[in-house]
Amino acid sequence: MNSNIIAVMSGKGGSGKTSICVTIAKILALQNKKVLLIDSDSGTGGMTYYLGLNIVQNKKVGLLDLAKDESLTIKDITQKFLRDENINFIGIGNHRQYSRNNKKALTLSIKRILEKVENSYDYIIMDCRGGLDDETVEITKLVNDIVFIVEPDTTSFQATQYLSDTLSDYKIAHKIKGFIINKVFDDPVAVARNGAGVFGGMYLDAIPFDIEAMRSFLIGCIANEKSLYFSHVWKAISKAYPNEIKETPYKTLNSKEYNKITTLNPNAQLGNLIIGFISMILISLLLYSEYFAPLEILSYKIILYSLFVIVLLNVSNFFKDNLGYVIKRIFQLLAEITKN
Ligand SMILES: Nc1ncnc2c1ncn2[C@@H]1O[C@H](COP(=O)(O)OP(=O)(O)OP(=O)(O)O)[C@@H](O)[C@H]1O
Ligand SMILES: [Mg+2]
Repeated sequence: MNSNIIAVMSGKGGSGKTSICVTIAKILALQNKKVLLIDSDSGTGGMTYYLGLNIVQNKKVGLLDLAKDESLTIKDITQKFLRDENINFIGIGNHRQYSRNNKKALTLSIKRILEKVENSYDYIIMDCRGGLDDETVEITKLVNDIVFIVEPDTTSFQATQYLSDTLSDYKIAHKIKGFIINKVFDDPVAVARNGAGVFGGMYLDAIPFDIEAMRSFLIGCIANEKSLYFSHVWKAISKAYPNEIKETPYKTLNSKEYNKITTLNPNAQLGNLIIGFISMILISLLLYSEYFAPLEILSYKIILYSLFVIVLLNVSNFFKDNLGYVIKRIFQLLAEITKN
């Protein structure tokens, strides 16, 4: 088996590389592909900390220790995913003590790993640091494909263009497989078209800003498989490797639907919907008792008081949140019961 070695890069930090790398690994694993994730970001070690919260064994040694300590083996630094046997992970290791003078340490370790394990995985995914430094340039020489993560704003775009131009200078631009636009709030068509014109790779997909996915990342969990975040990462990666990766079975947004995205808590949204529905019923009852059947259905006063209470509760975000949460839990429990 010959691994597909992919570097996930971005012009600037915080664009979503680490979370996308882990989500891609999960999607590939669901299709029984063997995946190795390597934290290649010696600056933040983002993936090491993120996965360390919940997902891996938390070994102390990693990539950078391999360069320092000849006696360490690849096995010593490879960690298992706790709930997914198709994915392995190599953390950054002791990056705080990592000497800036030893600029080759990171790439030497990666080379050593690739020589040994290249044929043991279907995909090897490297989470790179934001921007382009000497280390990252060296990494791009070792991979087959490069995927850019871009945010739909001017700075991110310019930084990605700079990245792409610099890779051209190094004669590596042919490895740019494509770009993913992340944290999208609006119709991505124009941004995608601009990107395709300047980044040198194909437009893979636009991942919506997803507050639920963000919550999952914050507590060290992978976004829910049914989330829009997950299905769009899936769509992007299957577009990059159409012959190897199946299309997502989950719903994705069409370009016009992106502007419906909101940062409102989904529980509060559901709560709002229910309160709106109850208010409409009460108002209809009120009108009905007033004009057609005075005081026959329910006491006029009771309806009026209920309406007043509902309007008051509508002002409380706490009530809306909890009402939405309770209703969602009831539906989830009912779904579980019927499934069993
Ligand atoms: N589609 C999205 N919707 C909402 N939040 C997102 C999305 N993608 C990423 N995030 C959030 O953005 C933040 C940065 O993500 P992440 O750490 O994956 O970026 P990064 O590019 O790896 O950053 P760095 O350059 O620091 O390594 C995190 O809080 C993450 O939860
Ligand atoms: Mg990161």
